[in-house]
Amino acid sequence: MGRLHSRSYRLLPLLYPELGIEPRLVVAADVAAAGRDYAKDVLGYESVVSDYRDVLNDPAVDVVSICAPNSLHAEIGIAAAQAGKPFWIEKPVGRGVEETEAVAAAADAAGVATTIGFNYRHVPAVQHARQLVLDGALGRITNVRGRFFGGFSSNPEDPLTWRFVRATSGSGVLGDLMGHLVDLMHYVLGPIGSISAATGTYLTERPGLPGTPDAGKLLPVENEDYATMLVRFDDSAYGAGALGNLEASRIAVGPRSEYTFEIFGTEGSVKWDFERLNELEVALTRTGPHVGYTRAFADGYFPDYSRFQPSSGTSMGYDDLKVIEAAKFLTAATGGEATGSNIHDAVASARVLSAAEQSAESGEWVTLPVEPGATANTRTTEGANA
Ligand SMILES: NC(=O)c1ccc[n+]([C@@H]2O[C@H](COP(=O)([O-])OP(=O)(O)OC[C@H]3O[C@@H](n4cnc5c(N)ncnc54)[C@H](O)[C@@H]3O)[C@@H](O)[C@H]2O)c1
Repeated sequence: MGRLHSRSYRLLPLLYPELGIEPRLVVAADVAAAGRDYAKDVLGYESVVSDYRDVLNDPAVDVVSICAPNSLHAEIGIAAAQAGKPFWIEKPVGRGVEETEAVAAAADAAGVATTIGFNYRHVPAVQHARQLVLDGALGRITNVRGRFFGGFSSNPEDPLTWRFVRATSGSGVLGDLMGHLVDLMHYVLGPIGSISAATGTYLTERPGLPGTPDAGKLLPVENEDYATMLVRFDDSAYGAGALGNLEASRIAVGPRSEYTFEIFGTEGSVKWDFERLNELEVALTRTGPHVGYTRAFADGYFPDYSRFQPSSGTSMGYDDLKVIEAAKFLTAATGGEATGSNIHDAVASARVLSAAEQSAESGEWVTLPVEPGATANTRTTEGANA
């Protein structure tokens, strides 16, 4: 992710010239010598250090990206806020709600702009789906199915990296993929108000990391491979709240990055899948010759698309989402309009994930407050912006 953040800063002057921002890659920190060499020789950083504090203390640094493993996010996020540096931080911001709230408190106290690596928000087709919800084109939202299925941990022979250990990762697929899906649901539909969840770990042991004393030993996987949640959105003020069924897996064989949602309303439905991220399936009529889903291609009608591609049928990709995220981060950090995610979105997502763990343990529904300052959608029954 350090490479991707760096690439995104570099591309900003080309793709968002009107911002007038020309980022300099001043200094990169990595404890690994290979990471430092790569930052200097390939990414083109002016200097490299092994201690992230040297980045935060450097007066030439205006903003920072935090792309270290999860266990360091809260520590570095709080230190960045205290150093007065706006920060773009990868998800999950903390290993649980407490760490995430501590980062939010530090950022609020310092008044620094924040952006979270919730990149799927920026997909032009997703932004368009959100607008359809907001405009009331789908009518009253009744239910949603969301699924983030990856196969990146499906091989039981793959070693036990930091991702599978509670002390370094916190939760498993909840923090890794479900956090993205929860944020996407908040962004497109609105805050989740209550949750009932179940989780499971199926590949329970993995070999220790090569080159460490644990190499060759089978060690326990400490967090969940799969999670499923039934959720009710916090829109009951407008009648029965919309319901959702959300799932995440890191061990699915077959799906590669099957990150998908299908939203149903009284007047229409939309369907999106990251594996075909430039398309949005839209159904806006229940009668006539065009009944059923129509496949809409991303085009200049969708936000941001024409920055990257000339016309529909040519495809944007995952890396481009990070450029949009960088543009939103640096716009907010330089005093412009804040249109991206912020630290309160991370708190809102972390609360849902923590409630899911609690519910999986107790078998009970868990109810949540709406997080002030988060950028969840504000639809009403009529679809007007509240
Ligand atoms: N938004 C997304 O779509 C997305 C995708 C992948 C990963 N991520 C998140 O990005 C983060 C990093 O993931 P990754 O896959 O790039 O991990 P990675 O293990 O490939 O890279 C982490 C880097 O941090 C370095 N590091 C470790 N300790 C450090 C320290 N004390 N100071 C400075 N550097 C240190 C490591 O040497 C390594 O180069 C994770 O939090 C992950 O959840 C987000």
